[in-house]
Formats: sequence, C-alpha cells, structure tokens
Amino acid sequence: GKDGYRHYMEKELHEHPSVIGQTLRRMLDPATRQVVLPELPFDLATIPRITMTACGSAYYAGLVGRHWLESIARLPTDADVASELRYREPPLPEGGLGLLISQSGETADTLAALRGLHGAGQHVLSVLNVPESTMARESDAVLETVAGPEICVASTKAFTAQLCVLACLAIATGTARGTLGEERAGALTAALTDLPGRASELLTLREDIQAMAQVVAEARDVLYLGRGAAFPIALEGALKLKEISYIHAEAYAAGEMKHGPIALIDRTVPVVAIAPGGRLFEKTASNLQEAKARGARILAFTDADGAPKLLNIAEQIVVVPTVDPFVAPILHAIAVQMLAYEVALLKGTDVDQPRNLAKSVTVE
Ligand code: M6R
Repeated sequence: GKDGYRHYMEKELHEHPSVIGQTLRRMLDPATRQVVLPELPFDLATIPRITMTACGSAYYAGLVGRHWLESIARLPTDADVASELRYREPPLPEGGLGLLISQSGETADTLAALRGLHGAGQHVLSVLNVPESTMARESDAVLETVAGPEICVASTKAFTAQLCVLACLAIATGTARGTLGEERAGALTAALTDLPGRASELLTLREDIQAMAQVVAEARDVLYLGRGAAFPIALEGALKLKEISYIHAEAYAAGEMKHGPIALIDRTVPVVAIAPGGRLFEKTASNLQEAKARGARILAFTDADGAPKLLNIAEQIVVVPTVDPFVAPILHAIAVQMLAYEVALLKGTDVDQPRNLAKSVTVE
C-alpha cells in the first residue's frame, strides 16, 4: 500500500534515503572506503570503450554516468537512446563494453540494443532493478539497483539508485585503470556514504519546493537549464514535469540557451536552474543572468555556496544540502522530482498513472 502517503510517487520519493543506502551497501565497504563490485567476466582495466544505452529517465542516469566514467576513469563513453542506437551502425571496438540501464529490464528498445551490442562482440553489463528480468538473463553481468518495486509510472527512486551504481562503477573503473588515486577514491566513497543523510535533509525542504511549484504550475512552458552533470538532471526534471503535470518543459545545456531558446524567454516562461556549486557554477550563473535580463523568472536549485551568488538573479532559491560536487547530481535529481510532484498536486493530475504512459514499454 501507500503507507499513509497520498500517492505512490510521494511514498517512493521518501524512500530515497533508504534506497540509496541499500544500493550502496551492495558495492561499498564503509570500513575500507572501497568499492567492491561483484565478479565481472571481463576486465574493467582493459575495456577500450563503453557504449551506454537506455530509454527515458534511465538514459539520463546514463548521461550522468558518462560524465563520471570520462572524468574519473578517463574511459571513452558513448551514450545514445536505445531506439536510436539499435538502428545506428556505430563501429565498435573488439572487447568493448555495452552498458545498459533499465528499471524493469523489459524495455523493448533497450533489450533490442542489448542483443545488437552482443551481436557486435561487446561484453554486456546491465544496471537493473529486476534481477529476474529478460535483460538480466541476457546480460554477461548485472549490477543491481536495490530500489524495490517502483509503482508510480514516473521513475524516482530507481533513477537515484541507478546513479549510485554508476558512481560506484566509475570509481571501480578509475581504480582499475589507475586514473583515480586512493585518496580521491576515499573522498568519493565518503561522499557517497554520506548521501542518505543528505537526502533526508533535502526531503525536509518541501515548503521551499512548494513555493517554487506555485510559479511553475501557472506556466504553459518551462525551461530547465544545467551544465555538465547537472544538464542530465535538467533533462530529468523536464521529463518528470511533462509526465505528471502535462506542462511543456524543455531542458537545455545552459550554454546552448543563446543559440536559440533564449528567443522564448519572457515573464511567462519560468527558468528552472540546476546550479550546484563547483567548477561550472559561475558559467551557469552568468547564463541565468542573461535569461533574467530578458525578463525570465529564475527558480534555482543550488547549495549554500551558490545561494548568496544567486540572490540578485533568482526569484526563488532552494538550498540543496552541500556535498562533494561529484554526488551533487544525485541530490538535485531528488529535488527536481519533488518539484514535479508538487506541481502535479497543484494541477490535480493523476500522479501515479499519467495519461498515455505505461510503466514498462515492452513494444517498440
Ligand atoms: O524500465 P526502464 O528503466 O527501461 O524504463 C525506461 C523508461 O521507460 C522510463 O525511465 C520512463 O522514461 C519513465 N516514465 C520516466 O519517469
């Protein structure tokens, strides 16, 4: 049942801290601060290239994973939605790794892409929430998200669990390839271990997010902006808003705004910014300033470092708990999911069963 929550989505949002904890516990030893993956039938140290593919939210999780794999493990990683990858003919290196991500393990396009990757001589590693699924049976190895059953059609806790697994995969790969030193690896695992507590803190910010939702709920179109690993979180936020509130939302890499979408900006098109502190914060802030100068109402997710710098730019700020920039996308994902939920409540939509959508898309 819903355990007293109004919707499965609300219940599943509140499961974030425990799901993150359970998922990490499978792969992370808090005593040694080391990532220990299950035995894999290939060697992470010698994989020449990763081809990541998935659909919907799972694909966005993979895009964050690509940032981590490239920056931490220095491993070339290609990413594409499964419905495109299966009909592309990318040249793939001998012994490369296909990385599949799926909550259900039954998504038709992802499964077809899996078979295509196998056919092209790739090892296949899948990040799955259902260990008995078709994709689990057909993969060479599985990394499990321990999210439990996800009932709401819009994915929430499975998405953050996928991010946790991908973060651990990046750390393990970086260690295996010698691109990640022991000290930094320890700092990254410590940041992950700390996440359930930070996620619980974030869940207490509901009132701030409700205030933001009031502005979003009145809009017909909303623009989500982010840079780097925050860009896929903008994509996730926009998808979630579309799915459950039926408000048109688009996500753009913040630096792309002036190449087109800035023409849309006026007071009626709120801009939701995913702006965690870190290397790219100033760049994002200056893009927000440009949007504000054209009359946009800026609603920002940032942290305690970023908040003072956005005071004169953003109409509303949600101060997400401060964490290592490495894990910030995971917290911001929860924040944008919470925003979509609050907007849907204001709109009175069918949160758990949005129109036209199926939980598991088993036809092409
Ligand atoms: O079961 P899967 O993870 O393969 O599903 C992929 C997508 O269909 C799924 O993430 C979809 O985009 C959700 N409705 C997002 O909330």
